Amino acid sequence: MNTSTNSKGIFDGASAEERRHLVELLAEAYWMEIETVMSYLAASVNLDGVRAQEVKQSLEEDVEEELGHARRFASRIKELYGVVPGSRDFSAEQTFLQPPEHQTDIVHIIRGVIEAETGAIEHYTRIVEETEGVDPVTQDMVIGILRDEQGHRRLFEGYLREFEAEGTA
Ligand SMILES: [Fe+2]
Ligand SMILES: [Fe+2]
Repeated sequence: MNTSTNSKGIFDGASAEERRHLVELLAEAYWMEIETVMSYLAASVNLDGVRAQEVKQSLEEDVEEELGHARRFASRIKELYGVVPGSRDFSAEQTFLQPPEHQTDIVHIIRGVIEAETGAIEHYTRIVEETEGVDPVTQDMVIGILRDEQGHRRLFEGYLREFEAEGTA
């Protein structure tokens, strides 16, 4: 019995088109992470007030985590024979995470973070679905990152709930 096709999966020559599509999805994810790093870094410095300290610290930690995600997306793009895009390909989309008018407006930032995390969750869920049966390695990596984003979203939902409970949101 020597009928094995010795499939190399996503690395097969025949999978070139799927690979190209996957690299596009990963590049989009990469930019989302990079923009999130910019937005969270700014917010972690800009916010003012006693109430802001917890949120600022959380965002500071997230900056490192999101940068780690960007690195993992970049490595996977490379492994799939893609090229990590240069900065001129970047276009900003996080209109909802621009600095608020007043730097004590913590709720604005909390809502923005929830929106950013929701966007990431939707895009990564799509990648998990599209890699099903196509590229289990990318799928596995993205599932891990998706879990991090769900954790971030859940944490900031908790912050928002606290402000809502006080009637300040
Ligand atoms: Fe992330
Ligand atoms: Fe996140």
